[in-house]
Amino acid sequence: MSLAAEVRRVLEGNAVDAADGRYTRPARATYPHQWLWDSCFHARIWAALGEPARAHDELRALFRAQVASGLDRGMLPHMTLFGGTPAEAAQDPNGAAQHARDAALWGSPRASSITQPPIMAETVRDVGDARLWRALFEPLCAAYDWWLARRDPRGEHLYVCHHVWETGADATPRADGAFTALLATGRTPRAIANGTINPTAKKRPELLAARFLMLEDLQEIDAAERDGSLAATAANTRRLALYGHVAIEMQAHLVTNLRALAEISAHLGQPERGARYRREADAICDAVNAQLWDDAAGTYVDRWGHPARAIAVRTYAPLVALHAPGLVPPDRARRLIAQLADPARFAARWPIPTVARDEAVFDADEYWRGSTWINVNWFVVRGLARHGALDEARALATRTVELVASVGLREYYRADGDAPAGFGPTDFGWSGLALDLARMLETELA
Ligand code: GLC
Repeated sequence: MSLAAEVRRVLEGNAVDAADGRYTRPARATYPHQWLWDSCFHARIWAALGEPARAHDELRALFRAQVASGLDRGMLPHMTLFGGTPAEAAQDPNGAAQHARDAALWGSPRASSITQPPIMAETVRDVGDARLWRALFEPLCAAYDWWLARRDPRGEHLYVCHHVWETGADATPRADGAFTALLATGRTPRAIANGTINPTAKKRPELLAARFLMLEDLQEIDAAERDGSLAATAANTRRLALYGHVAIEMQAHLVTNLRALAEISAHLGQPERGARYRREADAICDAVNAQLWDDAAGTYVDRWGHPARAIAVRTYAPLVALHAPGLVPPDRARRLIAQLADPARFAARWPIPTVARDEAVFDADEYWRGSTWINVNWFVVRGLARHGALDEARALATRTVELVASVGLREYYRADGDAPAGFGPTDFGWSGLALDLARMLETELA
């Protein structure tokens, strides 16, 4: 079967007709809900398959559970839950059980209370048309206004994640400091005690427990802020101490997407609204380069906690920053790109390992701790092209397409070893981004 036919088979098989929209599950059974950044990737893949209507529906459906009022007005949840109606639940054998579990976990039958990488605006810009831009303009502005209002608690133009799930890299060793502190409390998370967890693929059980402890502590702080028993400043301080992760790739996503939103504003004849987003994107670029670059290490360094501490472990994240327009100056880009050819860092048999190979925690097969992810490669290919590293972009795109074509669409892949391998659920949606990379190899990278 051709790659395009295989990708189509997977996306069509994962499509869901919800009561209020159509979307694509990341994977049947394991991941039945609509996930924020997965759907952005799915929209691109539908577009690459020549299905713009499906791409537009996927993006419209993302806004079904946007928070409509209160402190978090505008926030887009990272999961909009599957299976709220019997007709919907009937589309997935595990749907009803998953819905019950996740509704209990999040305290809502509708959606989660955290967000995910905000890559909506660039996706809407690239796969949309004037009609979609108009339809989604106000919801998009509300989503980014929420980021600007709620996630820069120190007022330094550096945006924080409140939970590791918000980075989309669930087990990244960048969270190990926070994980260790949570596990040291010796508590058993309620979700594990009550069985309200999604028993997915290869995930280290202690790290899974740490993520659920992080969530219950966060939910307690959020609830206290909402009911007024905790003032906003105190709530922010507690959230920062719990996790407060300033992640380089999240700054990069905001830069890319605030600029994309400014472009959409201009198309719609509202340049003054766009100017505000462009100014904030510039301010993030300045803050990132002034505060997160470590010249001796030759890379950007994340922070977490309160007071903020540097995170030394080297991961894929600074490479994703290359994708953001105007963020990484040329001399810094050269130093980051050189790491792709360095066997101690990111040169591997099936790149890009999500953790540098010389790190103690590196494991080529482990979930977000060394294994290869197709969405990461997709950002880096585009970043390399942006910085004129066309040979490197072509090489990475080619190897990524070959890996997906030979192993199939899995959630994540072995980065290094004797034989290629895929892990997590089969028929996993966003690995279909290989099709967009194949398209790029024939067009802008040709
Ligand atoms: C895992 C990934 C996350 C993704 C979700 C659904 O939790 O770490 O990034 O959004 O699965 O595919």
